[in-house]
Amino acid sequence: MRSSLGLSLFTFFASLPAGWSYNLVRDHSGQNFFQGWDFYGSWDNLTNGYVWWVDQTNATQQQLAYVDSNGRAIIKVDNTTTLTGTEPDQKRNTIRLTSTDSYDFGSLWIIDLVHLPYGCSVWPAFWTKGPTWPDNGEIDIIEAINLMDHNQMALHTTPGCIINQGPEATGHSIFNDCSKASGCTVAEAKPNSYGPGFNSAGGGVWATQYDATGIFMWFWGRADIPASITATTSTSGIDMTNWGPPSASYPVGPQCSNFTQFFTPQQLVLDITLCGSWAGLQSTYGGGCPGDCYKDSVLGPGSPKYDEAYFEINYVRAYTTGTPLPSSTPTTSSTGGVTVITSTIIDPAPASSSSTSPGKSLANGQDRSTAFSLAAIVFGMILFGATLL
Ligand SMILES: *[C@@H]1O[C@H](CO)[C@@H](O)[C@H](O)[C@H]1NC(C)=O
Ligand SMILES: *[C@@H]1O[C@H](CO)[C@@H](O)[C@H](O)[C@H]1NC(C)=O
Ligand SMILES: *[C@@H]1O[C@H](CO)[C@@H](O)[C@H](O)[C@H]1NC(C)=O
Ligand SMILES: *[C@@H]1O[C@H](CO)[C@@H](O)[C@H](O)[C@H]1NC(C)=O
Repeated sequence: MRSSLGLSLFTFFASLPAGWSYNLVRDHSGQNFFQGWDFYGSWDNLTNGYVWWVDQTNATQQQLAYVDSNGRAIIKVDNTTTLTGTEPDQKRNTIRLTSTDSYDFGSLWIIDLVHLPYGCSVWPAFWTKGPTWPDNGEIDIIEAINLMDHNQMALHTTPGCIINQGPEATGHSIFNDCSKASGCTVAEAKPNSYGPGFNSAGGGVWATQYDATGIFMWFWGRADIPASITATTSTSGIDMTNWGPPSASYPVGPQCSNFTQFFTPQQLVLDITLCGSWAGLQSTYGGGCPGDCYKDSVLGPGSPKYDEAYFEINYVRAYTTGTPLPSSTPTTSSTGGVTVITSTIIDPAPASSSSTSPGKSLANGQDRSTAFSLAAIVFGMILFGATLL
């Protein structure tokens, strides 16, 4: 039984085109970084942080969102104003960006940063969302607070989606019920994924694969970024060969088998808030930060408290599997876990509906039923792989 399953899986993998690649559909970098994002233009009415997410005009005037002389995007908290007001009226200015594109299954997002915001009260995130929360899902790729020394990844869904982390992942699974308030969370285990450690190591890269068969996130510090990523340009596609295991792995499984029930096309979000419903809790803020989050951090002079509260970004790039590039690199199956991950890039549909027009979904027109039958095979492979371990 096992050998015939193994043979059919071998046949399945052998029939996959070698070296599945992703094609670039959106490049946010250099002088064009801020094209294709909406500025929120309201106070933080979502996570109750003490910030005003300013509109684009104010962001530009106040130098809170700009491209610096190195061609990197800076997105920061106001550190030049002294606030003397009272809760909750006086808030500190900062930024929340939401991509005008939304991306369907079969997408890959890569962000390269040299600096992440940190410090007492500071809560930055790079994440994705559907139109309605939490019905349409949320993927937290970079998220940490206050003086944390590592990044934490998560999914958020409506009840009914419990995901056991794939065995190949290197991160530490904390919760597996994605409808919990914290989401199904995975703590990064590699060094220097947040805070001063991340910044002094020259930053790093996150890649997120958004697929109907699973959601997978990789992190590399600057020194360890795979050549396939450092070699990419603002026009080239990307090949996932030799990425190694992801930090967080959320494969479909028996307790969350249908991702279209929990996730719709996702928009990318970059934001910073202060205090609020995670960073401002006494249980989190109190672990190393002084006094009261609002009175002792947000109020008073902005400098030096918020001098480190900025993103410095080389690029954010989005890819889809629309038209796989031919590649001579064979898909190896040496280690069960990694093969399962690479084989989830299964969407052979042509990029007929792909578009980079702002506001349009970058759906790649995949046939979901095909995706799910393949998902079932991949899931079988995961089980099969597990029996080999
Ligand atoms: C937050 O404010 C924005 C802009 O005013 C508004 O469109 C949105 O509905 C508000 N959201 C909530 C949850 O109150
Ligand atoms: C932009 O700044 C002006 C002047 O300070 C202010 O009246 C307005 O509310 C600001 N808008 C936003 C969205 O921050
Ligand atoms: C998966 O969920 C979607 C959206 O709720 C639904 O339309 C579809 O029928 C479901 N597919 C399966 C195989 O249950
Ligand atoms: C604010 O922060 C920047 C770095 O983000 C720093 O260069 C500057 O000196 C800080 N202080 C003031 C008052 O601008």
